[in-house]
Amino acid sequence: MVQICIQNLGNRRIDSADTSRKVIEIIHENGIDWMHSCGKKGRCTTCKMLILEGRENLSLETPQELQFRSLGRLAPSERLACQTQLLKKSITIKVLDPYKFPHLMYTK
Ligand code: FES
Repeated sequence: MVQICIQNLGNRRIDSADTSRKVIEIIHENGIDWMHSCGKKGRCTTCKMLILEGRENLSLETPQELQFRSLGRLAPSERLACQTQLLKKSITIKVLDPYKFPHLMYTK
């Protein structure tokens, strides 16, 4: 069992028994909107998540993430939710300001 905590959505916690799913799929399957402009294909960075805790529990970076990182579009503390699997334990993440939806109530 793994757990995703989204800090600025009221510390919403999501449990999952499936470590093969991408983080964004687990979030969506639990009824939470998360931006994904390219359709989760690793082409846009709008699914970017800020990793506050648990970075070591994530899958290795994909070629798409490495490319965005080399272009300066993905900071060391950021991962693409559509490219990343949570392999063990937990992560605490945050939605970055440019990728917030107007219809969701974000917290600090
Ligand atoms: S949804 Fe476009 S890179 Fe993840």
